[in-house]
Amino acid sequence: MRMFPTPLSSVHRGVEQAARILSEVLQRLRRELKPGVVTLELDALAEDLIRSYGAEPAFKGYVVEGRRYPYTLCISIDHEVVHGMPSAERRLQEGQIVSIDCGVRKNGYYADAAFTVGIGAIDATAQHLLQVTEEALWLALEQATPHNRVYDIAAAIQQHVERHHYSVVRELSGHGIGRRLHEAPSIPNFVPTGNWRWRFPNERLRPGQTLAIEPMVTAGLPDVRVAADGWTVHTADGSLAAHFEHTVLVGVPPVVLTQW
Ligand code: MF3
Ligand code: CO
Repeated sequence: MRMFPTPLSSVHRGVEQAARILSEVLQRLRRELKPGVVTLELDALAEDLIRSYGAEPAFKGYVVEGRRYPYTLCISIDHEVVHGMPSAERRLQEGQIVSIDCGVRKNGYYADAAFTVGIGAIDATAQHLLQVTEEALWLALEQATPHNRVYDIAAAIQQHVERHHYSVVRELSGHGIGRRLHEAPSIPNFVPTGNWRWRFPNERLRPGQTLAIEPMVTAGLPDVRVAADGWTVHTADGSLAAHFEHTVLVGVPPVVLTQW
């Protein structure tokens, strides 16, 4: 006989711990984002802080298509969408929009989050792109309930973005998260049609499931390219891009586990 009811899922307890550490790191990094800061120094700060909590950077050493990502952070600037790499030669400059994306592993559980912010004064069009992308994320997070499916999240993002005449990137998506950084389901930022439906099954969401929801939005066309470094994803037309991400616990109401 069982003494205690078996929880549907206890993964979220581990993810919650990782998310707490990640939130500390992102909030600390935000204070450092100003003109003249060397992006590789931000990376070192993030790694040191993560390790000081007895955790590990989730992206460092992560293998995608046979390539090992070498840094703790992805720092993507202006027309870069995601997976921009920190560099000793790259300093933040006034007027840029900069996405800081970080993942943490603690006791074998993962959390993942990102935000985009202007450096000093940025122009009104860039500010609006950031606002709409962040709003799309919050609208999506509200959909993370057990009554819903993956495409409900996708629709919330796509509708908000396209209402403002921006574009969602198709090639990259949000994801389940837990004992691995990327788990099923893949969570597109648009409602799949045609062949896209095979790549993104419209799974029902389960209470206790943890998801990383991450709208990637461009001010121009949705098309992206990968740079010669093999990682940096940038807009094909050179238009600005924004990226916001939270790790969320599916429930009524959904619980956002990360902060920035
Ligand atoms: N948030 C990004 C994602 O979920 C992190 C990229 S991980 C990297 O895809 F290691 F590949 F950089
Ligand atoms: Co992610």
